[in-house]
Amino acid sequence: MTEVVLGVCGGIAAYKACELLRLFTESGHGVRVVPTASALRFVGEPTWSALSGRPVTAEVWADVHEVPHVRIGRQAELVVVAPATADVLAKAAHGIADDLLTNTLLTATCPVVFAPAMHTEMWENPATRANVATLRRRGHVVIEPAVGRLTGADTGKGRLPDPEEIFTTALRVLRRGAAAGADLAGRHVVVTAGGTREPLDPVRFLGNRSSGKQGYALARAAVARGARVTLIAANVTLGTPAGADLVTVGTTEELRKATVEAAAGADVVVMAAAPADFRPADRAEHKIKKTEGGAAPTIALVNNPDIAAEIGAAKGPGQLLVAFAAETRDALENARGKLTRKRADLIVVNEVGTDLVFGADHNTVTILGADGSTRQLGELPKDDVADAIWDEVVSRLAPQAKQDGTA
Ligand SMILES: Cc1cc2nc3c(=O)[nH]c(=O)nc-3n(C[C@H](O)[C@H](O)[C@H](O)COP(=O)(O)O)c2cc1C
Repeated sequence: MTEVVLGVCGGIAAYKACELLRLFTESGHGVRVVPTASALRFVGEPTWSALSGRPVTAEVWADVHEVPHVRIGRQAELVVVAPATADVLAKAAHGIADDLLTNTLLTATCPVVFAPAMHTEMWENPATRANVATLRRRGHVVIEPAVGRLTGADTGKGRLPDPEEIFTTALRVLRRGAAAGADLAGRHVVVTAGGTREPLDPVRFLGNRSSGKQGYALARAAVARGARVTLIAANVTLGTPAGADLVTVGTTEELRKATVEAAAGADVVVMAAAPADFRPADRAEHKIKKTEGGAAPTIALVNNPDIAAEIGAAKGPGQLLVAFAAETRDALENARGKLTRKRADLIVVNEVGTDLVFGADHNTVTILGADGSTRQLGELPKDDVADAIWDEVVSRLAPQAKQDGTA
């Protein structure tokens, strides 16, 4: 049984940690809940204790003969702090150990995931920004908060992501283990996902079968590997990955604009979305009517912009571009041509068809490198394909300048 420590801090979102706890226990993990004293003012000890089946205390002074301030951290295989307050982020960044949770954070050698939740002003405060940067540099995963309703009637960035999404990210971090580390920490990656829709009239569109699953798997994997992730989603109905900054778009032109904007300054752009290559030349203002007994309308198409080529041409030094090639025949041959034309560093090739790839949870891909490399993967869950793609990316990223002596 995997030993997980769930640290809970004194924020209004503490109640959501009960659901996170259940997700861990119901999937067979042993969970030791370590709340702060403030957390216990929001959700009491009996709730944590009953849900985890373990004793719960915020103090270092209980069961001292077992030396819990050291033992809990040492035994943990994963520590998740959710919600993480501005206060605990500051304490963790500075090595303060004045309760059981902060002691545990100092003794844990396993992967640590922080899921902060706080008001936007607290999140954006330079002190919090610096603390988060320090924690990330040390290899901890700090999940970006979601945008949405906060404690009061106000909205903004600072909301705790959905417990299921934190759980998914935490499991990915756990699966990778401490040795793999947060190898995308300090990197900004842009991932596009889904399929664009080109309107014919107010009710009809020209679209494709892309579900966004591979792109979302890439975004989740990148968060778990410590990256700052901008996820640009075209018509996707999946849950937003915890920690990804989501930008939603509809058409190829909207996707182009959002991707060009996000790509400026990003380390990596992964274009897993399926943009429509063509769009109707005209968009009817009103629904196109059927004329009884008349001929069906002819739809004239025009080319859409080539987003990958535009990003490839504008690539800055050290920036990597990963393109996707969805082919129905001669996949590798077509993809090699595309790799060169788009000035991509990697191209992920999959053979697609009505029943293949789109919407499925598995994918069979070949990853071609501009350096001539070919990596063929057997049929794998899209999560594993995502990690294989990030492995290829990480091995090609230029080393980062060290920002302090503590990394
Ligand atoms: C109603 C209420 C809601 C709060 N929500 C948050 C929050 O979401 N995030 C946060 O960082 N602090 C929040 N605070 C402030 C923390 O509770 C306070 O900083 C406390 O000292 C944190 O203790 P801890 O970090 O040991 O849990 C809230 C306080 C109150 C009274």
